Formats: sequence, C-alpha cells, structure tokens
Amino acid sequence: MKWLGALLVCLMLTLPALAADLPVLPKAKGGACVEDTQSMRRNHMDLLKHQRDATLREGVRGARHSLKDCVACHATEGKAINAEGQFCQSCHTYAAVAIDCFDCHATTPGKTKQAHAGGDVR
Ligand code: HEC
Ligand code: HEC
Ligand code: HEC
Repeated sequence: MKWLGALLVCLMLTLPALAADLPVLPKAKGGACVEDTQSMRRNHMDLLKHQRDATLREGVRGARHSLKDCVACHATEGKAINAEGQFCQSCHTYAAVAIDCFDCHATTPGKTKQAHAGGDVR
C-alpha cells in the first residue's frame, strides 16, 4: 500500500496549487443572482439553453434566465463581458469552454448587436 501514501502526498501538494489558480471573477452589480451561486456555477449553461429554446420556439420574452440580464449584472462598466479577464471569459478560459453566444448577443448592457438572421439581439 506504499503507492497509496505516495498518492495522498501528491494530492496534498497539488490541490492547494490548483486552488490558487482559480480565476478571480469581477464582482456583480445589482441584487442577488437569478439562482443561488452554487447552482449557478453548475447549471447556468442549462438555464441559458432552456431559456433560449423557450424564447425562440414559444416566443417567451423578459423571462427569469435572460442572457441580457446576465450581462446587465455581470459586465464591468466599459468592458465587454466576454473580454479577457471579464466574468464569462475568465471562467471559461480556466475551464477550456468556448461559447459563440456573443457573436450575436450584446456584450455590454443596453447595446444591441446584429444577428446573422437579421434583426437586433439584445
Ligand atoms: C446566430 C446568432 C445567435 C447566436 C450565436 C446565439 N443567439 Fe441567442 N438569440 C438569438 C436571437 C435572434 C434571439 C431572439 C431575439 C431576442 O429575443 O432578442 C436569441 C435569444 C436568446 C435568449 C432569450 C432572450 C434573452 O435575452 O434572454 C437567450 C437566453 C439566448 N438567446 C441565449 C443564447 C446562448 C446561451 C447562446 C450561446 C450558447 C446564444 N444565445 C447564441 C441569436 C443568437
Ligand atoms: C440581479 C443581478 C444578477 C443577474 C441578473 C445575474 N446574476 Fe449571476 N450573480 C450575481 C451575484 C450578486 C452573484 C454572486 C457573486 C458576486 O457577487 O459576484 C452571482 C453569481 C453568479 C455565478 C457564480 C460566480 C462564482 O463566483 O462562482 C455565475 C456562474 C453567474 N452568476 C452567472 C449568471 C448568469 C449566466 C446569469 C444570467 C442567466 C446571471 N448570473 C444573472 C448577480 C446577478
Ligand atoms: C464560475 C465559472 C463560470 C462562469 C463565471 C461562467 N461560466 Fe459558463 N461555463 C462554465 C463551465 C465550467 C462550463 C462547462 C460545463 C460543462 O461542460 O459541463 C460552462 C459552460 C457554458 C455554456 C455551455 C457551453 C457548451 O458548449 O455547452 C454556456 C452557454 C455558458 N457557459 C455561458 C456562460 C455565460 C453567458 C457566462 C457569463 C454571463 C458564463 N457562462 C459564466 C463556467 C462558468
């Protein structure tokens, strides 16, 4: 069982190092998030995708998990939310996730962007 001890020592040495590299996220403005922080970390992608389906297929607008609301609270003044070091980007760089959402959706509050399909996306 020597290997087990060696493995434990390895874990003890590497875990704090990993934790120290976690991205630092810009603080949100406004009130509380749309769900609690823990479940947002885990589930925001599902919430957003569900919300998109609801809007595009069923015409639901101004709903609880709207992408423009994420931007309103989580974008830093004067910076695009998907820019280097900003809210969505710093975490996704860390997690090696790439999203195309901001090809169409606005990256700063109150702006609109042209969709491929034509028409403005907020
Ligand atoms: C090709 C352009 C395009 C891309 C890429 C795109 N969307 Fe959209 N999205 C739209 C359009 C058009 C609408 C409907 C217009 C509106 O409701 O303002 C929409 C609506 C939405 C909505 C509902 C409206 C709102 O503001 O909440 C959500 C949520 C959403 N998209 C999320 C996403 C997410 C998440 C991604 C990336 C995984 C994404 N979209 C990628 C074009 C796009
Ligand atoms: C009314 C403002 C508000 C809205 C709208 C909002 N958030 Fe939040 N969000 C917060 C606050 C406050 C926190 C707690 C962390 C902080 O203070 O920055 C948070 C936390 C989070 C976290 C966890 C961050 C961490 O520290 O691990 C994620 C992920 C997140 N939000 C994503 C989203 C997404 C995606 C949307 C849109 C569907 C959204 N938020 C909408 C205010 C908001
Ligand atoms: C606390 C870290 C964190 C923050 C902050 C964060 N994300 Fe994510 N996001 C992740 C992780 C991790 C995944 C990959 C989850 C998986 O693959 O199961 C992900 C995945 C996604 C996906 C699905 C991508 C795919 O290809 O399936 C979307 C869409 C998304 N995030 C949107 C956003 C948006 C928009 C914001 C900013 C408002 C944001 N995220 C902020 C950690 C974060």
